[in-house]
Amino acid sequence: MNRDFVAGAVIAAAGLVGLLALASMGGSDMAVTAAEDAMMADSMSPDTMSGDTMSPDVMAQHSGSGDQAEGDARLYVPSVNYRRDWVQLGTFSLQADDPEDGAGEFHVVYAERAAVEAYLKDGIFPDGATLVKDVFATKTEDLTTGRASYADKLAGRFVMVKDGDNSEAGSSPLWGDGWGWAFYEGEEMQKTVTTNYVNDCMGCHQPAADTDFLYVQGYPILK
Ligand code: HEC
Repeated sequence: MNRDFVAGAVIAAAGLVGLLALASMGGSDMAVTAAEDAMMADSMSPDTMSGDTMSPDVMAQHSGSGDQAEGDARLYVPSVNYRRDWVQLGTFSLQADDPEDGAGEFHVVYAERAAVEAYLKDGIFPDGATLVKDVFATKTEDLTTGRASYADKLAGRFVMVKDGDNSEAGSSPLWGDGWGWAFYEGEEMQKTVTTNYVNDCMGCHQPAADTDFLYVQGYPILK
């Protein structure tokens, strides 16, 4: 299972072409899994709020690699304990290649409470709102409830940060269509493997264009 996940993640990092190739080979579950590991950056946290006035030192720290543009300083995995302190919007269970194995991955999505409240009021996330999606590998066991899958190792995280007026678009290829977009492998929090959101994300998020590129059908709390 872990090996499958790693393979999927590598393919996702390689871009949509790889994903499509995988899907056509019958491995679409794996491809979807890898693609969804991105986390959303939290622009409402004190960290993010200060993004525009960061010192060069802090920017360098956040950008992780020298070739990233300044705008990417706002994109990283929030350092707060979002699993405890934010709101969990919902979970997607991805079936394992062999259905007997239960769930192959869990995708768990979080946002800040203030962002959720703003969404419930306005029907859209406010600027700076950060969505984080944990991608967990799974374990499956026969428990007293039946065959049960549960979250195991963190495979990676997808981050989206709302940028409603596209003020960051053009500053880096990770921003556009109203969001900043990035995926972080494993426990990594700052250095993204995403190079271009159009290639790395939009192929799969376009179907959700009518709902601000979000798969809101999986988030009961937003209804
Ligand atoms: C293989 C297709 C695929 C790719 C590639 C992909 N995603 Fe997703 N993403 C999805 C799907 C489908 C969901 C919701 C269902 C799920 O997670 O299983 C989702 C959900 C998310 C969520 C939770 C919020 C939401 O949109 O509902 C975030 C955050 C996210 N993706 C970020 C990204 C980022 C950033 C990238 C690019 C680095 C990316 N995704 C690439 C398919 C993909």
